[in-house]
Amino acid sequence: MDKVIIDKTARRLQGNDKIRVLFVCLGNICRSPAAEGVFRAIVDENNCPDRFEIDSAGTGGYHIGDLPDHRMRVHARRRGIELTHICRQVRESDFDNFDLIIGMDENNLRNLLRLAPTPEAEAKIAPMAAWVDAAMRFDHIPDPYYDGAEGFETVLDLLQNACLNLYNSLK
Ligand code: 4NP
Repeated sequence: MDKVIIDKTARRLQGNDKIRVLFVCLGNICRSPAAEGVFRAIVDENNCPDRFEIDSAGTGGYHIGDLPDHRMRVHARRRGIELTHICRQVRESDFDNFDLIIGMDENNLRNLLRLAPTPEAEAKIAPMAAWVDAAMRFDHIPDPYYDGAEGFETVLDLLQNACLNLYNSLK
């Protein structure tokens, strides 16, 4: 958890009628579409779908047009979350169209910083781990692609924790 990033983000976005959040990972088939689904479920449970616009994208372009990885869809469905996002790559216009761009790991953040066209765009980038409880002892959201079931469960645990903290910090 990074209280400086959490507070800075909340301050920057306070007063916005709508907060537009883009979750970003490498492939946009595991972590970021799961983050999108988890965050949307929290927003819907709290009856404020109009307060947020939520999307996800990948820094890589290997899976454009695909549904999320079937393993992630199965694990998310067990928690009551249907993942229906269609994979797309991050584009420069995302820095205009979103207020907060959240990367899952250091590699994603490095790539996002390279794509950001202006200092204002750079200021929109933040690490998902900033909203993960310190007790969970993760400083990034690990890529589950080459892992077994446990990896997908860990990612969903981290994302459910981070998204709830994110929602509470922005609401
Ligand atoms: P993600 O996982 O970044 O969480 O969507 C990955 C999915 C696919 C690949 C890498 C990571 N890939 O190399 O195809």
